[in-house]
Amino acid sequence: MTNSHGYQDFTLGGFGFARDEYFCHITWQTHDGRPMSHTMDAGNYLRALMRDVAWGFFYGWVNFDDVIGTVNHYATVDLFAGAYNGAMKTAGIDRLENFPTDDIRQVFEAMLADWTNADFDPFAAPQETGSPYGPKNGDNMPAITRARELARRCVGLEGDLALRTDESGAPVNRAFADVPQDKPEIHAEPGYENQVHAFNLFAFLSRSQVTWNPSFTSVVKNSFMCPTTEEHILPIIHGNDRVEWFFQMCDEIHWDCAHKDTGEPLARVIMKAGDMAAMPAYCRHQGYSPKRSMLLVWENGSPTLVDDIKSGAAPEVPVEF
Ligand code: PHB
Ligand code: FE
Repeated sequence: MTNSHGYQDFTLGGFGFARDEYFCHITWQTHDGRPMSHTMDAGNYLRALMRDVAWGFFYGWVNFDDVIGTVNHYATVDLFAGAYNGAMKTAGIDRLENFPTDDIRQVFEAMLADWTNADFDPFAAPQETGSPYGPKNGDNMPAITRARELARRCVGLEGDLALRTDESGAPVNRAFADVPQDKPEIHAEPGYENQVHAFNLFAFLSRSQVTWNPSFTSVVKNSFMCPTTEEHILPIIHGNDRVEWFFQMCDEIHWDCAHKDTGEPLARVIMKAGDMAAMPAYCRHQGYSPKRSMLLVWENGSPTLVDDIKSGAAPEVPVEF
């Protein structure tokens, strides 16, 4: 059904979704049957929805804000409103429903496609895209169907991710005009040219067209190196289901860290170039990058880790003092 602003309404289980010119509205019923609703800025909502869709619901919690979000169970996904907000949970006005991943993915993809206007790119930094607001005005399918880049071997080797160049439509970003674009020297023995390789990671990142979108640039067993370029605010508040490491490769990001179950504030972490931090499995975090910066996110992709943490076999923290 299309509303008076030209946008389609959506439902998923007991949740309703509607968009107008400025806002997205989510509705549900409280435990005792009263109608509840939540409102988000349309730009913030679409930036969060874009990440949730593109990352296949990510690791653990993707909070769109302090109220709504998803939890990935890796075959099913919870959609919740208020269930991880201490005050709303205590008041009994929250809702949580579990869906097969395909069902929620289809609704989220259709919502993202319908609610994103022609001028708006939810992956771009706010200074590098048009407005998300106004009545329905076309769509932006190329921008919202970008896939997360996933390396199988070294970037630039035959059969893997191509290096970014001016010709491939990846010019150096305005914030990284000072990043050297030189290439490492490679002297492979004859016959090994397709096995020995190196590339300039800073140059590669300086040409990223999107923000807050980690690429899998190296995969060694379950160790995933996911560098990314960040500008403005991480559009989601990520709740960990495992320890996650950050290496600030240039400039700075300010993180708000809170308890993942309640949102109770835990820490402010100001990361400057060269700093490393680890986010424990019990936290949620959101970063603020005043200038476009480079961040290396290091993920432990072990498929048994969530159960290992639950059973106590793996720790919730990176180190115990
Ligand atoms: C995170 O949730 O840890 C995260 C997500 C996307 C980024 C950086 C960090 O670009
Ligand atoms: Fe995270």
